[in-house]
Amino acid sequence: MQHETIAQALAAACRSIDPVDARLLLEYVLHANHAFLLTHPEHLLTGPQSATFSQLIQKRAKGIPVAYLTGERPFYDLTFQVTEAVLIPRPETELLVEWALQQIPEEQTGRILDLGTGSGAIAITLAKHRPQSHAVAVDLSPDAIVVAQRNAKTLGVTNLEFVAGNWFDELSGEKFDLIVSNPPYVAARDPHLQQGDLRFEPALALSAGDDGLACINQIIAAAPRHLAANGWLLLEHGYDQAEACRELLQRAGFNNICSKPDLAGIMRVSGGQLNFSM
Ligand SMILES: C[S@@+](CC[C@H](N)C(=O)[O-])C[C@H]1O[C@@H](n2cnc3c(N)ncnc32)[C@H](O)[C@@H]1O
Repeated sequence: MQHETIAQALAAACRSIDPVDARLLLEYVLHANHAFLLTHPEHLLTGPQSATFSQLIQKRAKGIPVAYLTGERPFYDLTFQVTEAVLIPRPETELLVEWALQQIPEEQTGRILDLGTGSGAIAITLAKHRPQSHAVAVDLSPDAIVVAQRNAKTLGVTNLEFVAGNWFDELSGEKFDLIVSNPPYVAARDPHLQQGDLRFEPALALSAGDDGLACINQIIAAAPRHLAANGWLLLEHGYDQAEACRELLQRAGFNNICSKPDLAGIMRVSGGQLNFSM
């Protein structure tokens, strides 16, 4: 059997899947980076490499997300292992991390809580960048907790503990200086749930009641009992939920409420400060 070159393998793959996905999958199969693919178009794949690449193309053509095929996704400045048990970390969520890091000075020994940690992307990134702080990461899914714990170990983050449970249920009496969350916020009947990568991600990570605000509502209502004085609550939400989020924060007694836009100018994160402790 004739071996194919990188250029031939990519050209064939692009007939059935997106060129960027084809490149990422070939990088994964060859353990090579983008620069290698660009500079070695004549490099020959081995038989097993061609077979593996072709199986991955078939799976991607059926819709399986690239990150679930390669088992990893870069987020902020780290790379996280992902499985079908967790949401694939999104670039939009880096905005939440940026805002959270601004609230915790580097030398501060604060307590951070990440609700709905999934792969651990937010909690682990914050804990890694603020080694003096102590973070707690909660998820209802025990399978997600296993993935997040593995990521913390691989990335050498130890100032972090994991709790399996429903939002604040296992944190009775505990207070935090900063609470962050990227909770499920898609309306249960939103047609996007039946499209693209979302079809393959855990329903528990995505949908939240009829209007998508059920989890956000629960978190905002309960957060004041778990915030230290002057503590912040920062939440990622849907493209059209910023106003509703700010209203909920106001009703719960928060101050300094504001929303921040993503690179497309869409308000994707809202938060507020609680100037008293309950
Ligand atoms: C949108 S995903 C966010 C995952 C991760 N934080 C990220 O940004 O990539 C929401 C997460 O909330 C978790 N979750 C859903 N309902 C929950 C609940 N009642 N209590 C705790 N976690 C919950 C899901 O299992 C999922 O991991």
